[in-house]
Amino acid sequence: MIAEVNSMRFTRTAHSRVQEVDWSNLGFGKIFSDHMVVIEYHKGTWQAPEIKPYGPIPFSPAISALHYGQALFEGLKAYRNDKNEAFVFRPAENAKRLNASAERLCMPSLPTELFLSSLHALLEIDKSWIPTGPGEALYIRPHMFAIDEYVGVKPSDSYLFVIFTCPVGAYYTSELKVKVEKNYTRAANGGTGSAKAAGNYAAALLPTKKAQEEGFQQLLWTDAKTHEYLEESGTMNVIFRKGNTLITPELTDSILSGVTRNSVLQLAIDWGYEVEEKRIAVKELEDGLKSGEIQEAFGAGTAATIAPIREIQIGDALYTLQPWDSWEFAPKVSNHLDALKRGLIGDEHNWNFPI
Ligand code: COI
Repeated sequence: MIAEVNSMRFTRTAHSRVQEVDWSNLGFGKIFSDHMVVIEYHKGTWQAPEIKPYGPIPFSPAISALHYGQALFEGLKAYRNDKNEAFVFRPAENAKRLNASAERLCMPSLPTELFLSSLHALLEIDKSWIPTGPGEALYIRPHMFAIDEYVGVKPSDSYLFVIFTCPVGAYYTSELKVKVEKNYTRAANGGTGSAKAAGNYAAALLPTKKAQEEGFQQLLWTDAKTHEYLEESGTMNVIFRKGNTLITPELTDSILSGVTRNSVLQLAIDWGYEVEEKRIAVKELEDGLKSGEIQEAFGAGTAATIAPIREIQIGDALYTLQPWDSWEFAPKVSNHLDALKRGLIGDEHNWNFPI
């Protein structure tokens, strides 16, 4: 795809904002770096990528993304170490998942090489925006949306693919208290739950807000049909440790296939743990929490990284796990992934993509 790289159009910002950032107070997703990638799709073809200053994109209020929801996104992160070496973690996986989401939403696929080359060019130009502090990274948000100016319901003929980036700290800043959700549904079989469709997140907002009003940070979603089996936790997949076994809900068409989930399970296997991807009944979770057999519970996601779940509400009962620093697996995998993503330890699976 050298042609695409050669035909990339660059417009550098006249005024970098990098010196104005309060690096001691990054938060999550509210600071935007200098540049963005924009690639247009029309007449059946992706056009030459453009890298230009981050800012508003003009479009009509009639674009179909706003009305019929042809909109999807991805999330990945870049890290930088003290030697000024920078890496993105497993970007080809995100390119692949973006195309799986696109297929489900009847949107065009984007060549992986175009995703990677435009992302690489963006990160080279904005490398100084990648923070280096503990728990910090440059969060990367590729997304695609339909831009036909047309009110009839049909797949759009034109799209924009955009990537912007944000220097971020932790998404969750404390151990989590979550509630098993048995009324609302995030995703049903046959629906779009395994796609990173913008609408999936809209559907989760009200139930999550209600849970937050009750003092929970997140929900543990259950299946749409019976509400008896665990699915995921909205911003992350969920994993439990029972002795030497890591258990996690098996992937279905209502669960997002997380890159962090996959990496954690691979490391668990490397380290000699058993891994069970299976249907997990809420009852099995409750029994394991009651008996103390479930010793760890954590979320795994790009934004969330490894997020300890300390308290779990099931019906009227609240179960509390031992503190994170007494756990054997999640802190170890969290530290390992962090060092790996910064290029500080061996990368035997070739997960890091150097910038
Ligand atoms: C991510 O982990 O990258 C996500 O997309 C989750 C969330 C911030 C919506």
